[in-house]
Amino acid sequence: MYSEIVQFIRETFRTPEGFIPLHEPRFTGNEKKYVLDTIDSTFVSSVGAYVNKFEEMVCQITGAKHAIAVVNGTAALHMAMLLAGVEPGDEVITQPLTFAATVNAIKHAYGIPHFVDVDRDTMGMSPARLEERLASIAEIRDGICYNKETGRRIIACVPMHTFGLPLRIDEIAAICKKYQIKLVEDAAESLGAFYKGKHTGRFGIMGTLSLNGNKTVTSGGGGAIFTDDDQLGLRAKHLTTTAKVPHPWAFIHDEVGYNYRMPNLNAALACAQLEQLDKFVDNKRELADIYTGFFKKQGIPFVREIKDARANYWLMTILLPDSEQRDAFLKYTNDNKVMTRPAWQLASTLPMYKDCPAGDLSTAIQLEQQIVNIPSSVRIKP
Ligand SMILES: Cc1ncc(COP(=O)(O)O)c(C=O)c1O
Repeated sequence: MYSEIVQFIRETFRTPEGFIPLHEPRFTGNEKKYVLDTIDSTFVSSVGAYVNKFEEMVCQITGAKHAIAVVNGTAALHMAMLLAGVEPGDEVITQPLTFAATVNAIKHAYGIPHFVDVDRDTMGMSPARLEERLASIAEIRDGICYNKETGRRIIACVPMHTFGLPLRIDEIAAICKKYQIKLVEDAAESLGAFYKGKHTGRFGIMGTLSLNGNKTVTSGGGGAIFTDDDQLGLRAKHLTTTAKVPHPWAFIHDEVGYNYRMPNLNAALACAQLEQLDKFVDNKRELADIYTGFFKKQGIPFVREIKDARANYWLMTILLPDSEQRDAFLKYTNDNKVMTRPAWQLASTLPMYKDCPAGDLSTAIQLEQQIVNIPSSVRIKP
């Protein structure tokens, strides 16, 4: 059965032999032209026309009022934590099934991660589990949510749209509103993914993106923050450009800032890639349909978007019955040069986060044993 799967993936990627990566970038548009433009213009660093163009494109794609280009998705999340008002010792709710950067960013702002379980179908934060957890530990005093058990403030909540599958973010937003918790969405994996017609990352105060080389579109390294809030947009731009007061020649910084601005060289690549986002997502959605039909016949669940969601299917996922069969599958496919990967080790079990507060995480624990990501690249060759 595993050999049939390897053969099918090879046929689907028209790669009869050799290595098939999990996700590789496709440079099939204006990438070279735009990158060379920046070199010819000498504007390769953090000021330049492509940075502005990239921000405009992110606004257009997401529908957000403001977008701020930054060096990577981790910096975007760190900035979002600071802008959400996370102060040392504040708790920030997140999910255990995520890339380490989501949780690291909370720590970078000296916050304390607090883990809430995911839903099985979306693999993203569960509204039911969030509500249940807050009902048992939260109390609101003077408009601020506190954890009764630890005495600490619960300032923010950071769900993540796992592998580009939108989670039930409208329900999460309603719960956060009820408990006066600021919602920041880690949309690093979900550029081009929508829920109920609205782009992921637009249901709270801010969303963050990653344009790392493994994502649906890439700038080499890069990220963005997007928001509808004018004040937050201005603050994000100021803080990510070392808090320099705009002036034709004077160098004045009015607070501790961060050198997080995306270079024009990377923005050029990003612009060329964003021009192809719709084409890439359509192509990936077509692949998801092909996989769905195939794995149905194999009796292996392929994880699909939920109702009202339009996923970008960044990394496609099958669920194997248990960790033993998962490991056998990982070994067989990787031995045969078809790259597959298990889920991240749950953040709640990593040495630096294992003592953080957490609710019942049984769904994430079960999913971690079963998830396998399979080759998911756009099937368009240059
Ligand atoms: C869920 C998630 N959050 C954050 C990041 C961090 O982004 P970056 O690698 O651009 O710092 C990534 C990916 O890399 C991610 O998958």
